[in-house]
Amino acid sequence: MSTSLTIARPDDWHLHLRDGAMLEAVLPETARHFARAIIMPNLVPPVVTGAEAAAYRDRIMAALPDGMQFEPLMTLYLTEDTDPEDVAAAHASGLIKAVKLYPAGATTNSASGVTNFDKVRAVLEKMAEIGLPLCVHGEVTDREIDIFDREAVFIDRILDPVRQSTPGLRVVMEHITTKNGADYVLANETDLGATITVQHLILDRNDMLVGGMRPHYYCLPILKRAEHREALLAAATSGDARFFLGTDSAPHPTHAKESECCSAGCFTAPNALPILAQTFEKASALDKLEGFTSRHGPAFYGLPVNTDTITLTKSDRVTEFPAKIDAGDHTVTVFDPGFPVYWTVAS
Ligand code: NCD
Ligand code: ZN
Ligand code: ZN
Repeated sequence: MSTSLTIARPDDWHLHLRDGAMLEAVLPETARHFARAIIMPNLVPPVVTGAEAAAYRDRIMAALPDGMQFEPLMTLYLTEDTDPEDVAAAHASGLIKAVKLYPAGATTNSASGVTNFDKVRAVLEKMAEIGLPLCVHGEVTDREIDIFDREAVFIDRILDPVRQSTPGLRVVMEHITTKNGADYVLANETDLGATITVQHLILDRNDMLVGGMRPHYYCLPILKRAEHREALLAAATSGDARFFLGTDSAPHPTHAKESECCSAGCFTAPNALPILAQTFEKASALDKLEGFTSRHGPAFYGLPVNTDTITLTKSDRVTEFPAKIDAGDHTVTVFDPGFPVYWTVAS
């Protein structure tokens, strides 16, 4: 028996491509299935200025194999020294589609992020004026806040005050991981969207911690309790256009994941779509998949929906994904959902 589903070609609204040999290794994995992606700027050093974003875009396009199509949607990394006029010029030229806020120290390569929000006020006001979205890694970093509570506390202490004091600022809550995050989106009619990853739709913290620690499930924001996963799945499969796919595919060398201090991030680019198809089917919501992967994101960002399509098929044979891909001197371990997947991207 086989089932197939043809949908407008998806985009990835939150992606890490890195640079150099890693970029060359992971870019085809995304470009094979996705037309466009919002490219995270957390390189070392970060992509802060319009000139740096233009140079990074050129490196991405140079790494794209012949015959593949892909459009990187560039972002700038917000620092306390970011110049509002540089941001406005990069937006006006069509180069950037968003600015990314990392609270300093919140996640991988976020040391140059924001500590004092007063210092970025002028940039945020400029962004509200020109309609440029702010993508937010929404976690506080205070030592005394438990890691499982950091998203909920961020919403109350930082996100809501920033939004109240910057009317018109369009915000994407990136990789929401809690019911609190989904509820905050649902309670705010305008100027707010949220991306959701594959891993946060299918895993909870037990999957990461019971019976041994699984480093390839460690990402930030960290996996939460089952009730949060259920709320995210309900949001993603609801058809509500404020929720869309951002895989947060975040490659790290296998040795950095399988180490005493494991790097945060799951590499889901190769199998995100088959896992999602299976997840939506299980939730009796296959008809909502196209909105989540291909329509809601473009609507939020004011971009056209892709005109070509992909076809996902389901068979009774388990789909084999590579366990690892080569990246220069290293390998990157491909995300293993922990259950057999019967869907595949056929074309
Ligand atoms: C991301 C990375 O590796 O760059 N890691 C992660 O766990 N999600 C950073 C991020 O998106 O927070
Ligand atoms: Zn993040
Ligand atoms: Zn990310």
